Amino acid sequence: HARAAHGGDADGPLVVAHRGASGYAPENTLAAVDKAAELGVRWVENDVQRTRDGELVVLHDDNLRRTTDVEEVFPDRAPWKVQDFTAAEIARLDAGSWFGAEYAGARVPTLKQYVDRVEHNHQKLLLELKNPQLYPGIERETLKVLANEGWLDRPHVAGRLIVQSFSADSVRTVHELKPAVKTGFLGTPPVSELPEYAKFTDQINPSYGTLSASYAASVHAFKGPHGRRMEVFTWTVNDADTARKVAAYDVDGIISNRPDVVREAVRET
Ligand code: G3P
Ligand code: CA
Repeated sequence: HARAAHGGDADGPLVVAHRGASGYAPENTLAAVDKAAELGVRWVENDVQRTRDGELVVLHDDNLRRTTDVEEVFPDRAPWKVQDFTAAEIARLDAGSWFGAEYAGARVPTLKQYVDRVEHNHQKLLLELKNPQLYPGIERETLKVLANEGWLDRPHVAGRLIVQSFSADSVRTVHELKPAVKTGFLGTPPVSELPEYAKFTDQINPSYGTLSASYAASVHAFKGPHGRRMEVFTWTVNDADTARKVAAYDVDGIISNRPDVVREAVRET
């Protein structure tokens, strides 16, 4: 049966490749960005953290064990936290072999390398500030890298960049430092608190398990800091049934490890 009327977006929700197309290539690597591009997916999501010497890098966990060979290369450096390694040390690590031998030699990208590849591929970026409480000042530093790469000085900045975080403080800081940047809060705040969030975030981005049609409608009832209807991007949806379910909630975006699967599913609705 018919899906709920969609707020002016005839093409249905945007599909975002979570950590790149991470169902098919090692998460948060340039290979995962390229895989999303190959699949025709315009939006990629990533996770930004900081090295000991102040370089911004793209990695999800707060330590390097799961997605690199750090334990082999630096056996004495437990617990292998990102913040305890320099950028040069991290650049030596293999961030692809754990996923598949064909990705041996993939690296942990710097944020600069990552945004350059996204730009090269004509893609758009949903950038997550991950664990910002560990990295005081990372909001300003992230905006500086984006500015240096030419991402902030164009009129269409809001058309290709969203900065999100689980930390409301971080999202508010980004909004205050650079109001032109579109922002997202990761979580499901009580509806009674949405007026406060609407002052600094353009999106409320819940885990799909915490999302309902009525919650999405509640978010949509508010206007964000740029005067437009607040949006909902939900995560992490990797199967067709769930994709159809959340599309019927009228979400604005679906974040997925398998963006091709989601795109096919929501096209059929
Ligand atoms: O973009 C949403 C999603 O990435 C948040 O969860 O743990 O995958 O960063 P996580
Ligand atoms: Ca993320």
